Amino acid sequence: MNDAKSYVPPFEVGRALEGAAVGEVVASGADSHRPGDLVLHNLGWREFALLPAAQARTLDPTAGADPAAYLGVLGVTGFTAYVGLLDIAEFKAGEVVYVSAAAGAVGSIAGQIAKLRGAATVIGSAGTPEKVARLLELGFDAAFDYHEGTVRDQLRAAAPDGIDVYFDNVGGHHLAAAIAALRPFGRVAMCGAISQYNAAAPDGVDNLTLVIGKRLTLRGFIVLDHGGRRKEFVSEMSGWLRSGAVRYDETTVDGLENAPDAFLSLLRGGNVGKMIVRLTD
Ligand SMILES: NC(=O)c1ccc[n+]([C@@H]2O[C@H](COP(=O)([O-])OP(=O)(O)OC[C@H]3O[C@@H](n4cnc5c(N)ncnc54)[C@H](OP(=O)(O)O)[C@@H]3O)[C@@H](O)[C@H]2O)c1
Repeated sequence: MNDAKSYVPPFEVGRALEGAAVGEVVASGADSHRPGDLVLHNLGWREFALLPAAQARTLDPTAGADPAAYLGVLGVTGFTAYVGLLDIAEFKAGEVVYVSAAAGAVGSIAGQIAKLRGAATVIGSAGTPEKVARLLELGFDAAFDYHEGTVRDQLRAAAPDGIDVYFDNVGGHHLAAAIAALRPFGRVAMCGAISQYNAAAPDGVDNLTLVIGKRLTLRGFIVLDHGGRRKEFVSEMSGWLRSGAVRYDETTVDGLENAPDAFLSLLRGGNVGKMIVRLTD
């Protein structure tokens, strides 16, 4: 949100925030869009948005998906999990995978994709016992609450022979623990570092030199660069959703006026799965 150079322009005081939204067309001057159509666009955080038709992708009403799914499992978050695991971490069947913030929108899908693609073991960490229980229901082989001991100890207990892939949503101590647990030639998809976003000083990673001897790959990515994989993702994920192979959670908050609190709650772990704000009349 600050004015540091980033892949998105800094937020400006007094201007509405951008963010993915599903909306209903109420008026249109374009033949391609009719009132009543549901569209995906990027001018969330407002009740009405005026935008060029090309920036509003019409959702297929016959696809049978819950419209909010286009913001989560079938949208950017599901796509982030897909690209991060398969392309960035180059996950292969038979490997051991660790996912942090695993009960969140991206993490819960990354772990399930790893299982569906033949992972030997998928381990997830999360911030409450309820989230840990949910991960086991979703098919994770092991899960732990990072408040109940160090991540290093709990990860070692869950994967005594080490891990091959770490899907990093958290950074800090979680990343350090994963570097310690990674086997030679292991890979890290550096997706996010939520433990660091508001930290006054970065903390946690004190063992980066292990990357050399273990020949590890740590690779950051931004999903926006991977549009070329969207079609494959949508096709494969739609199939998994239809068959029930992938399940997803949403935490819904009502009212645009509650969006700031929803956002802050996300940073404190108040969500399971995708945090959605639903506009009310
Ligand atoms: N690279 C990309 O293109 C891309 C795209 C989308 C998202 N992301 C990143 O991916 C990550 C996940 O995003 P998301 O939208 O799926 O969010 P999310 O995981 O649904 O929500 C964030 C979760 O992070 C956990 N968390 C918050 N503070 C934490 C801390 N200090 N230590 C450990 N866990 C903490 C909380 O769960 P607990 O209760 O488990 O703590 C919270 O529920 C974020 O870091 C986000 O910035 C990256």
